[in-house]
Amino acid sequence: MVKPRNLNQQSNRIAAITQKFAETFGSPPTFIASAPGRVNLIGEHTDYNDGYVFPVAIDKYINIAARQRTDRRVILHASDVNDASEFDLDALHSIPQQAPAWSHYLIGVASLLQASRRKIAGIDAVITGDVPIGAGLSSSAALSVAATLAFLTAGSELEVLESENGKKELAALCQRVEHEFAGVNCGIMDQTISLLGKENHALFLDCRSLEYEHVPLNLAGHYITICNTKVKRELAASEYNKRRAECERGVDILSQWIPGISSLRDIDLTDFKKHEEELPALTQKRCRYVIEENTRVLEAVSVLKAPTEKTDEALIQFGNLMNASHNGLRDDYEVSCKELDLLTEIARSITGVIGSRMTGAGFGGCTVSIVHKDALETFQTRVRKEYHEQIGIDPEIYLCHVGDGAQVFWSSELS
Ligand code: GLA
Repeated sequence: MVKPRNLNQQSNRIAAITQKFAETFGSPPTFIASAPGRVNLIGEHTDYNDGYVFPVAIDKYINIAARQRTDRRVILHASDVNDASEFDLDALHSIPQQAPAWSHYLIGVASLLQASRRKIAGIDAVITGDVPIGAGLSSSAALSVAATLAFLTAGSELEVLESENGKKELAALCQRVEHEFAGVNCGIMDQTISLLGKENHALFLDCRSLEYEHVPLNLAGHYITICNTKVKRELAASEYNKRRAECERGVDILSQWIPGISSLRDIDLTDFKKHEEELPALTQKRCRYVIEENTRVLEAVSVLKAPTEKTDEALIQFGNLMNASHNGLRDDYEVSCKELDLLTEIARSITGVIGSRMTGAGFGGCTVSIVHKDALETFQTRVRKEYHEQIGIDPEIYLCHVGDGAQVFWSSELS
């Protein structure tokens, strides 16, 4: 049975990576940069449309234990995948052909930090993590953010992390790494929550202005529960970029009728309904989903802020919005898949589950459900049994504790 929470987990991870570093490099690291993955509660595929999102940082991390070198070499060991790679900070014009895919993120981060005139230094580093890879929980954003912190720490440039604007600048840099080094035209959500997450709070983020608010999660005995389909998101990158292009096409066409708009964020449902017939059928569905989803996020945030005596009612509304979000992703945006649909259906049929939806880019990956503590056991038993019976795969279930954003731990403070 999965236990609701283990407070010592992060310190266990730090101890394990410290030991791994010492085994690999002969003495302990100087510091450990740690960045969390995320689960998005609502507001999917809205970030690159200048819209609203509502993610939380989860207690799953990418950790990089490191020590500054006196030269410009970067020596990396990815111990979970038993792989290694190295490069030189003065020769970053192109990614070496033999460089493993995970190392592209570190090469990307180093290149862009140098291009933005941040002082960085060579490092010896060990990378470990427990954010499942390719599961829609932002393992790649967590890797870029942890790498950013590691290079900045080695270059004594950490003060950029002390300001809100500094963190936003780093989130934008990590987003560019995805665009320029991984070929995914992603939005800004994942990198921002990994840097700005706050314990027991969700981040209500306006992806246009980057203004945000930490909203307390008053879940009255419910847990944020993640189920991993264990289906890899093969189509994710190409279909993701297609969805983004379809939304931009929609804005292009609609701007002939609704002047002054520059993204779907600028259109409300009433205006959209007046002009939707101008759009090709597929573009129409995509745009409708995004416009409705933005409205749902605003509603979801406002219901979560309801006074305590109304929490139960508010949570039901919140759950209904999550369900509607999934239905839109499945029917109009078409980024779900049969495994995600099945997990949400099983979840929704259990008393004590207030809402369930896919989370992240889609085409596999994870669902997020809000489950009452008394229903956890039934939830886990039924999800495991029914998913296995129908798909033939054992799903993974994580009860998540909402944690803080990325941090650097100094080894001297830890011992
Ligand atoms: C991926 C991207 C994000 C966001 C989500 C979908 O996680 O990296 O920017 O677009 O998909 O909401």
